[in-house]
Amino acid sequence: MNSAPGKLILAGEHAVVYDQPALAMPIAALRASVVAEPAPSGAGMTVHAPDLGLVWRLRATAPLSDLAQRTLDYLQLPEPDLCLTISSSIPIASGMGSGAAVGAALVRALAEQAGQQLAAHVISDLVYQSEKAFHGTPSGIDNTVVAYEQPILFQRQAHADPIIAPLAVGQQWHFVVADSGIASETKAVVGDLRQRWLAEPDLYNAQFAAVGSLVRQIQVALAGNAGPEFGQLLSQNHQLLQTLGVSCAKLDHLVQAALEAGAWGAKMSGAGWGGIMLALVPAEHAALIQNQLRAAGAVQTWQTSLLPTQAAEEVTHDHA
Ligand code: PMV
Repeated sequence: MNSAPGKLILAGEHAVVYDQPALAMPIAALRASVVAEPAPSGAGMTVHAPDLGLVWRLRATAPLSDLAQRTLDYLQLPEPDLCLTISSSIPIASGMGSGAAVGAALVRALAEQAGQQLAAHVISDLVYQSEKAFHGTPSGIDNTVVAYEQPILFQRQAHADPIIAPLAVGQQWHFVVADSGIASETKAVVGDLRQRWLAEPDLYNAQFAAVGSLVRQIQVALAGNAGPEFGQLLSQNHQLLQTLGVSCAKLDHLVQAALEAGAWGAKMSGAGWGGIMLALVPAEHAALIQNQLRAAGAVQTWQTSLLPTQAAEEVTHDHA
């Protein structure tokens, strides 16, 4: 079985599409998996998602068919007689990277058939190329964090490969994540913001730059050990996302509920207009904050944490 984790964007979503830095971490406990089983000779390749009641053939016009074809091309393999079955505990359309995780697991499963183990940057790039074909203008942060499976800073560059650097983490940080229950399509939110950016580029570029400098401060706070300061920076990021018009009443309500319950800071995470929010919490208050978020209308909540690391070093910048 091949798998990949879900992810959280800690800071910098949306501005990252406009070449500002953003921070993301994997959620190892939520995963997408792909099991490959041989199919009868001549049957070709099918991808099954029993949870969704869907089946795709390789030749279909669908993101996973496209990704499978790109992967087979990369591996220089003809269509195999194979049945691939997807299962995933990552909520769909909620900002937790379920599409990228399913994609990364699928690429790994096909590579295994070829007796190969692909490097993280190759997996990331295959998923990115396919997301680009189907989802407009993805920054590349989702496929990167999911394929590398470590906390990263990600920054696109106009004329070069993106910067991908592992994050230094100063102490164990605890997060509570809550799902608003409102499904939201990343493409719609990103496309709407793009229209507004096109109409008023100077205004939005200034706001994206403000997010970018906040992200740099959050990167420093993450490497330190001052929870209240770190939290306040995350809450400031939420306010900037509100100004950008990508939050919604329910996310704002959950952010407020987390802060009132004792979180150091809270923000929406991912594309917005629904999906999830996250709260940085003192460990001893995590369960209480989780309960308060449910009482405030969250449909699902999770706890996750980041473990302390040694100093960060650049791992790669190999990305199309
Ligand atoms: O896929 P989501 O919902 O986690 O959102 C992706 C983050 C955005 O910055 C909004 C878009 C992108 O491509 O980076």
